[in-house]
Amino acid sequence: IKKIGVMTSGGDSPGMNAAIRSVVRTCAYHNIECVGIYRGYEGMIEGDFKELNARSVKGIINKGGTVLKSARSNEFRTPEGRKSAHKKLTEANIDALVLIGGDGTFTGGLFFNKEFNFPVIGIPGTIDNDIYGTTHTLGFDTALNTVVECIDKIRDTASSHNRLFFVEVMGRDVGHIALNAGVGAGAEEILIPEEDLGLERLLESLRRSKQSGKSSSIVVVAEGDKIGKNVFELKDYVEANMTEYEVRVSVLGHMQRGGSPSCFDRVLASRMGVKAVESLLEGKTNYMVGLLNDEIALTPLEQAVKGKSKINKELLRVSDIMST
Ligand code: F6P
Repeated sequence: IKKIGVMTSGGDSPGMNAAIRSVVRTCAYHNIECVGIYRGYEGMIEGDFKELNARSVKGIINKGGTVLKSARSNEFRTPEGRKSAHKKLTEANIDALVLIGGDGTFTGGLFFNKEFNFPVIGIPGTIDNDIYGTTHTLGFDTALNTVVECIDKIRDTASSHNRLFFVEVMGRDVGHIALNAGVGAGAEEILIPEEDLGLERLLESLRRSKQSGKSSSIVVVAEGDKIGKNVFELKDYVEANMTEYEVRVSVLGHMQRGGSPSCFDRVLASRMGVKAVESLLEGKTNYMVGLLNDEIALTPLEQAVKGKSKINKELLRVSDIMST
């Protein structure tokens, strides 16, 4: 392998830049060329490439977002799209890929490998932490810190007005952000798609916490939770069924995806980038680099795509006990 292409794809996450920097510098360390592929698979199909050297990635370890930009490509889902992408890579003499993204990104990589026998290694980058084969995806820790900071602020106003707040956090299909940030911010209830609390039990729990002397309450709701149709309907339902609280909703939205990465995410990104490049150089392909038991470990990419990230049940119990 003489030239590695690096790309970010899907939803961006803090730490992606630190991972790009790590991939580029590890290539430089091993005297291999590195090419940045812009705008994910879309840019790959168009040949939107730029040679990167160790100095091209200066001053980005602390930056949120991705300097390589990101996109979701429908064309790459078609065999013709992948053929065009392969042609562009071959013309540019790129002979292996580091793909930074989530399971959509990895699925594209698997197809590509199958059709063209092209070496690929994945680095999990998404704030949702919904990837099997790693306890932490890049950006998850930063997003948690952002969410906790926001909830702390919401709590100030919630307690001044004796209000109940529903705070919606990201997590289309999973509750990792909600559960971890909820415990970290001392939420009274945490609603996640993996656990169906049910509306009645939610009401009971809110009544109980009011009776126990709490004057305000924070309920963290994962975007993907199915308890109400959405967080606003949940508010209407609670208001209609209990008069104890005035209720407000705060949807944190895309601010959770931005911002300077935490030290944890920067360190993790640096470790993952080194492992990704060195694995390709050792002839490994179709793996995802992950963090397992605090060690950087490889998981077959197919398993990473098919497996389900599990919610931490112990944290659920901790949350229950803490809201006593
Ligand atoms: O990055 C993952 C995620 O944050 C999900 O939790 C959310 O549903 C989704 O991205 C929204 O992404 P977009 O606005 O890019 O469609």
